[in-house]
Amino acid sequence: MEEILTVKLKPMEKIDVDKVIEIEAKAYGNHHWSKDSFLSELSNELARYFSVFNKNGELIAYCGCWQILEEAHVTNIAVSPEYKRKHIGELLLKTIIDECYKNMVKFITLEVRTSNTPAISLYEKYGFKSLGTRKGYYQDNNEDALIMWTENIFYDKFKSIYENNINLLDGKIRYDNGSQTCKKTN
Ligand SMILES: CC(C)(COP(=O)(O)OP(=O)(O)OC[C@H]1O[C@@H](n2cnc3c(N)ncnc32)[C@H](O)[C@@H]1OP(=O)(O)O)[C@@H](O)C(=O)NCCC(=O)NCCS
Repeated sequence: MEEILTVKLKPMEKIDVDKVIEIEAKAYGNHHWSKDSFLSELSNELARYFSVFNKNGELIAYCGCWQILEEAHVTNIAVSPEYKRKHIGELLLKTIIDECYKNMVKFITLEVRTSNTPAISLYEKYGFKSLGTRKGYYQDNNEDALIMWTENIFYDKFKSIYENNINLLDGKIRYDNGSQTCKKTN
């Protein structure tokens, strides 16, 4: 039987950023964000970033988004390689969606490499649809980006996919997010 992981989810803090960069470099290769980019994001009023810790308190995943009026843009979602396929990516996406519900953000968008099957599958599982490509968006290999969007997340269709997934997720991973209202800290 699959072991159920227990993790803690918290708003990202400056102290997390060194470990975030380590995971970021493995996840995004040459295209990864710098330490300064993350530090400046933590002071950005429009940004929401979260870190995930294992039971030993080690940072094992993170995510972030910008919320601008009715739209959120997912900037990063990454899981440390040894923790992949343990439902943490899903937990991170749920966290971003919950943050959008809390702040009345209606639409969520992101760009993803056309070759990134794991990420595309994750987003499709939650009802994201591809609405075109940005040609040569990734400068390291000139790869195209798929532009993905949700419909209005308050519509029943999106909510029912979300709720089905979340009900199943609750049996696959244990998480403590302090409270249901995660707030950004500087
Ligand atoms: C994409 C990523 C965040 C997924 O995280 P994860 O914790 O491994 O994924 P989960 O275990 O939560 O899987 C959730 C869903 O994602 C999809 N998925 C994840 N890994 C997959 C894989 N290797 N192949 C196919 N689908 C996959 C599946 O739909 C899965 O649902 P299922 O368990 O019902 O099959 C992780 O692979 C990662 O960190 N990649 C590097 C960084 C990155 O590419 N980020 C996205 C940039 S846009």
